[in-house]
Amino acid sequence: MKILMVCLGNICRSPLAHGIMEHLAKEQGLDWEIESAGTGNWHIGEGPDRRSIRTAREHGIDISGQICRLFRISDFDYYDHIFVMNKSNLADVLAMARNEEDREKVRLLLGDKIVPDPYYDDAQFEPVFLMIEKGCKEILKELKDK
Ligand code: 4NP
Repeated sequence: MKILMVCLGNICRSPLAHGIMEHLAKEQGLDWEIESAGTGNWHIGEGPDRRSIRTAREHGIDISGQICRLFRISDFDYYDHIFVMNKSNLADVLAMARNEEDREKVRLLLGDKIVPDPYYDDAQFEPVFLMIEKGCKEILKELKDK
């Protein structure tokens, strides 16, 4: 299973989703490939936001080695599923889809809810972590027997 987590900056939310899903899959002995990317190009080549690194570390997950990159059209070919954090991520990714097969791979991580952008509010990192963790657990349950 290959999964791509996508947000706007690829430094706050999708690195958390990447690290959490990787951690959960490993815990279950699943050999899944998880990555993340952003739709915005401001932070390409940088590591995750230090607040995401710290929050993940507090939950026993190391995301410090991740490197920010841009979402690209070829991601539709490589990944089985592409999970986005909010409606604007969804619109941005779907705008790059070439066909129905591409579009079918893209879903909101939380189903019908969004993961808010914590970038401008330090206090949001912990709740955002918990939200993402819950979403990842549900997705893992759904996909692991497929
Ligand atoms: P993210 O948060 O999409 O969760 O990585 C953001 C990080 C940076 C910016 C926006 C959102 N930015 O505008 O630089």
